[in-house]
Amino acid sequence: MHPLPGWLIDYAAIRILDLLAWQEQNAIHGPLLEIGIYHGRSLALMLRSALRSNDRVVALDTFQFVPLETVKTGVAPIVDPESIVWLQTSSTSCSSRQLLHVLGADPRFISIDGSHECDDVFWDLRLAEDMLAARGLVAVDDFMNMVAMGVNVGVHKFFATPRNLAPFAYTCNKLFLSRPELAPSYRHAFEQMVMADRIEPLSAKGLVEQTLWGKSLEVLPG
Ligand SMILES: C[S@@+](CC[C@H](N)C(=O)[O-])C[C@H]1O[C@@H](n2cnc3c(N)ncnc32)[C@H](O)[C@@H]1O
Repeated sequence: MHPLPGWLIDYAAIRILDLLAWQEQNAIHGPLLEIGIYHGRSLALMLRSALRSNDRVVALDTFQFVPLETVKTGVAPIVDPESIVWLQTSSTSCSSRQLLHVLGADPRFISIDGSHECDDVFWDLRLAEDMLAARGLVAVDDFMNMVAMGVNVGVHKFFATPRNLAPFAYTCNKLFLSRPELAPSYRHAFEQMVMADRIEPLSAKGLVEQTLWGKSLEVLPG
């Protein structure tokens, strides 16, 4: 992903690669969706997993900052850009029904990294809640990022009422969610990934168990 401009922190990228590999090892199949592509940094991670599992990738963005053709050129060294389903639209114009039709099945991975406006983030979370596969996971970017306040408000507004999603880990601006029944399995897997990591200095700092919206999650302060 390094040749592609963007803000995705290496440590968050490593843990996403781990989580996607864990899905592959546990025969969790299904398409992958990202809302908010920019140049395609996190998309690159998703493409790696999708290539191995032969799953569909849907990339949704308004492409108002980086033209679609530029993004396609950037990801061309990874895959044929025409193998990706590109949706040039605002996520807030999409219903879960429309997206599921394009995805072809319930997605195993959803990256929410589009608009930072509270109501848009709330919308994107509602889409994820509607669509996520039973054993899938959601990565919400910019939670607890002090220069993306709308994301925090949107996420808190979403979890202000009971939800069919639960947090299981947080690190480097990424909040990870799954279905509530799967959260203990994902939390344990995340813990194992961090403990097995002998390379990244951040992993040595150690996880802290926290409670958020009544749910237990592993936090690695970045
Ligand atoms: C922070 S960037 C995404 C970064 C990217 N995921 C990465 O790894 O580098 C946010 C992107 O969201 C897009 N965006 C903003 N509002 C959107 C909306 N309502 N629907 C879809 N995309 C949106 C912007 O065009 C921009 O490309």
